[in-house]
Amino acid sequence: MKLQHARVVLTGATGGIGQELLEQLLTAGAQVLIVGRRRSALDALAAGRWQRMRTVEADLATRAGRDAVEAAVRDWGGASVLLHASGLNELISFAAQDEESIEALLSVNVTATLQLTRRLLPMLQQQPQAVVVLLGSVLGSIGHPGYATYCASKFALRGFAEALRRELADTGVQVRYVAPRATRTSMHTAAAVRMNEQLGSTMDTPQRVAQQVLQAMQGTRHERYLGWPEKLFVRINQILPGVVDKAMRKKLPQIRQEAGPSRVVS
Ligand SMILES: NC(=O)c1ccc[n+]([C@@H]2O[C@H](COP(=O)([O-])OP(=O)(O)OC[C@H]3O[C@@H](n4cnc5c(N)ncnc54)[C@H](OP(=O)(O)O)[C@@H]3O)[C@@H](O)[C@H]2O)c1
Repeated sequence: MKLQHARVVLTGATGGIGQELLEQLLTAGAQVLIVGRRRSALDALAAGRWQRMRTVEADLATRAGRDAVEAAVRDWGGASVLLHASGLNELISFAAQDEESIEALLSVNVTATLQLTRRLLPMLQQQPQAVVVLLGSVLGSIGHPGYATYCASKFALRGFAEALRRELADTGVQVRYVAPRATRTSMHTAAAVRMNEQLGSTMDTPQRVAQQVLQAMQGTRHERYLGWPEKLFVRINQILPGVVDKAMRKKLPQIRQEAGPSRVVS
């Protein structure tokens, strides 16, 4: 997929990684339709470059929001890239996470991603070449204490990407799954940043992650894991999960300090 003149639908464009993706896509010569819930943030991103950009204010967790995106893409004349960079996360012990938070996270990370892909697929299939890019996570392959619901959502996306890519293998639509490690954006609360520091987890810059997402879009690899040694941990977790169980168990006290206790008195 060549980025020059590509027509990209970018969700999560107002986020830390999304804003960098937008800048790099524009630099590469793409046209971009950005999606987010905050009109003022969308307008600020499009200011001075309306010829190459469109904005859609939409809550992707709602049917009405997805209707708005579908209509805007149709009105735009279709798209060749659907880049999903929206998402929610919460560092919290599962016992303490409330019903609304679980529902909201799964709704944005999983349901909205699948539903929007399904809606835009016919338009993507009209292009000679198209690509759907999903931003997963290393936590889509490694279950991590404090992130049970987030891990569930990213494991789901990885399975979706694999199945869809196989389903579309004889069409012009490629599917790419890119799994960053921790990245410095406002998705991480102060507690999450403290935990990463305590555990010695490196946090990438959004610039670096965006560069690699763009490489993935242009390359031929279906799945990409960002960061060393995290990509090795993904493999070890597949082959020897007991080793990772032991390592995580040792880290539980530090994780609980930020994510909260495993038992909540009701
Ligand atoms: N940061 C990390 O450490 C990390 C690591 C691995 C993977 N990722 C993944 O990378 C993606 C981007 O993460 P980020 O760090 O850039 O997050 P972020 O800075 O928190 O941005 C999240 C984005 O999602 C959008 N969003 C949230 N709920 C939405 C909804 N209901 N409807 C429409 N848009 C919604 C937000 O838009 P508005 O609030 O403006 O509507 C915002 O643009 C996510 O999928 C995340 O899971 C992040």
